[in-house]
Amino acid sequence: MRSPRTGRSAWPVPGDRAPVPAGPAPGRAALPRGGRAWSGPGRTRRDDGGVLQDVIDHLACPVCRDGLGLAERTVRCPNGHAFDVARQGYVSLLAGSRGAGTADTPEMVAARERFLAAGHYAPLAARVAGLAAELAGDAPGLVVDAGAGTGYLLARVLDALAPDAAGIALDISKHAIRRAARAHPRIGAVVADVWRPLPVRDGRAALVTNVFAPRNGPEFARVLAPGGALLVVTPGPGHLGGLVDALGLLSVDQEKERRLAASLSRFFTIITEVTEEISLTLDHDAVEAMVRMGPSAHHVDPAALRRRIGDLPDPSVVPGLFRITIWKPNRGI
Ligand SMILES: C[S@@+](CC[C@H](N)C(=O)[O-])C[C@H]1O[C@@H](n2cnc3c(N)ncnc32)[C@H](O)[C@@H]1O
Ligand SMILES: [Zn+2]
Repeated sequence: MRSPRTGRSAWPVPGDRAPVPAGPAPGRAALPRGGRAWSGPGRTRRDDGGVLQDVIDHLACPVCRDGLGLAERTVRCPNGHAFDVARQGYVSLLAGSRGAGTADTPEMVAARERFLAAGHYAPLAARVAGLAAELAGDAPGLVVDAGAGTGYLLARVLDALAPDAAGIALDISKHAIRRAARAHPRIGAVVADVWRPLPVRDGRAALVTNVFAPRNGPEFARVLAPGGALLVVTPGPGHLGGLVDALGLLSVDQEKERRLAASLSRFFTIITEVTEEISLTLDHDAVEAMVRMGPSAHHVDPAALRRRIGDLPDPSVVPGLFRITIWKPNRGI
């Protein structure tokens, strides 16, 4: 699972402010034989207690792309662009974005939080965290989760990595990102649009994760450090089994999934593909939360949904089928 190639450190020099080219930076230590995606000299100290402090050196100004600093709850670039840190500990670096209609609503986020807190996706999170840990070895690193939602999976990934690892949760929904800000002490939570240039500096992430969320191939490749990897989770064919028809849910468009994978292939090459199959035991409340946290929430009449759920066995046992793929940027292969 470890990077098959010897690369360079995935960890940046603390505190550097100059733009970092995507290619190997001069003066970085070469990895030991068998090179790892995670490596490097350690991290800056947390000195103001703010969760963004762990990741501020890796963030980029959404206006001018320069580096950012954090002082008195304001994130600021050297060119005077400033962004307030919200009371809940996240920052919005959405400048210029119209705010996507794809953002999860407060109701969807609340349903997702309920569903995840019940542990239904714990086996999936454990599998993703295990894969991340295998990729990482013992070295620290930065994980960027694009479309992180409430930060649940990113938190499990950070738990599985060295205590120095930090994460940036990116999501366009401020309702989700508020939760992500408190999901783990080492998550820096940022409102951002994955379709736009990511507010992350070049070559910083040891791992980019993307779980049921929009993908931006060129940007994921840009922010990855040499030796880093992209981990993508998508629902597989047959996900949720008979519930899809019984409740009139949107089914996963496998053709669309193939097209998305093909578009990613312009920037990445797949190195590992695994299927994770879990058994979901869902009582009626869990089924409702599952529907309300996803895209079907907009398509199903609430009264009809409750009626249909009432007709289901309580609990219902359905398959959770997930495709986990690990990719390396083409430049790094
Ligand atoms: C299905 S949820 C998955 C959340 C999380 N990865 C998880 O597995 O719990 C999709 C997430 O993508 C976010 N999203 C949708 N469009 C986005 C965009 N353009 N940029 C960033 N995030 C976006 C939504 O707000 C939502 O939180
Ligand atoms: Zn700026």
